[in-house]
Amino acid sequence: MNTTMPEMTTTTAQHLSTSQADLSRAADLLRSGKLVAFPTETVYGLGADASNGEAVAAIFEAKGRPQFNPLIVHVASLEAAEAFGRFDDLSRQLAAAFWPGPFTLVLPRTDTCPASPLVSAGLPTIALRVPASKVAQTLLERSGLAIAAPSANLSGCVSPTTAAHVLDGLGTRIDAVIDGGPCSVGVESTVVGFQDGAPVLLRHGGVSREDIEELTGPIALFSDPDRPHSPGQLLTHYAPRTPVRLDAAAPGDNEAFLAFGPDAPQSSASLNLSPSANLREAAANLFACLRQLDAMDRRGIAVMPIPETGLGAAINDRLRRAAETNMKHSGSNHDT
Ligand code: TXA
Ligand code: MG
Repeated sequence: MNTTMPEMTTTTAQHLSTSQADLSRAADLLRSGKLVAFPTETVYGLGADASNGEAVAAIFEAKGRPQFNPLIVHVASLEAAEAFGRFDDLSRQLAAAFWPGPFTLVLPRTDTCPASPLVSAGLPTIALRVPASKVAQTLLERSGLAIAAPSANLSGCVSPTTAAHVLDGLGTRIDAVIDGGPCSVGVESTVVGFQDGAPVLLRHGGVSREDIEELTGPIALFSDPDRPHSPGQLLTHYAPRTPVRLDAAAPGDNEAFLAFGPDAPQSSASLNLSPSANLREAAANLFACLRQLDAMDRRGIAVMPIPETGLGAAINDRLRRAAETNMKHSGSNHDT
């Protein structure tokens, strides 16, 4: 089986200025699926076209993260955000108060949300932010894109607030960095989500809890005081309802089949993550394929082995969680 890795950038990232010409160049790179780090008022973000699944997969690859975590999607305005997330009165009020700025809202995805399911790590929600930084705004405008961007650091390292920090960690893994000088806020955006209609604070950040509470009243805090930047423990991971069986050579009776690579056996209820065994393509397709196979309502979903290299580690992490979840709650609806 051919399991070669997709090509990774190995040359040094272009060091771009904030000149009009360089910002246009950065916008062009983003539109062609490349990775561009850019300054926001909080920290530098590692940006990619949010609607391009393979570009989003390349973000995870560059950060070297062995897991898929949902990413923040940056948009130019509240109006632009409405295409991605379902707002209600309260979320619209919060957006009006704190956008543009260091503030992120986690909302249900719209039915026609143009963002790749990978930015949401398969969850039914999406994190949205309108940055205040002039450079970020210009980039959004020039590119006409929604830009998915986590902090532009290697997994496990601190968030970068200068272009030099970005190059230190990611210099040979991304296509370009826009040097806009040091970030003015210097900490990440505040992340607010909703549970049963009530706002919850998922991460402390550039907008204070007090300022938010002036609008909302007392807001529940969902972050661990020892790990203020890790609301991850609150995220339920996406998993299909149908039991998942790993390392399957072929589908069994009445099983749907998640295939990988050119040597996959044929089956009527089968989808191939990447017929050419390209892990970036496989990552981009993972959540959409799982949802489709789940909807077939078969007895199970059999999954072909996927190499553990590069993005394969994150893909397998997700598949193993899906298989374990099914073992614990077989048949129940746990996708919240
Ligand atoms: O200031 C910032 O927010 C920076 C700049 C670049 O905008 N971005 C940033 O992204 O810090 P990142 O990926 O490092 O952090 C995103 C946070 C994570 O804690 C993630 O768990 C949470 O937002 N998040 C994203 N999508 C979510 C979702 N659908 N549900 C719950 N939490 C979500
Ligand atoms: Mg981060």
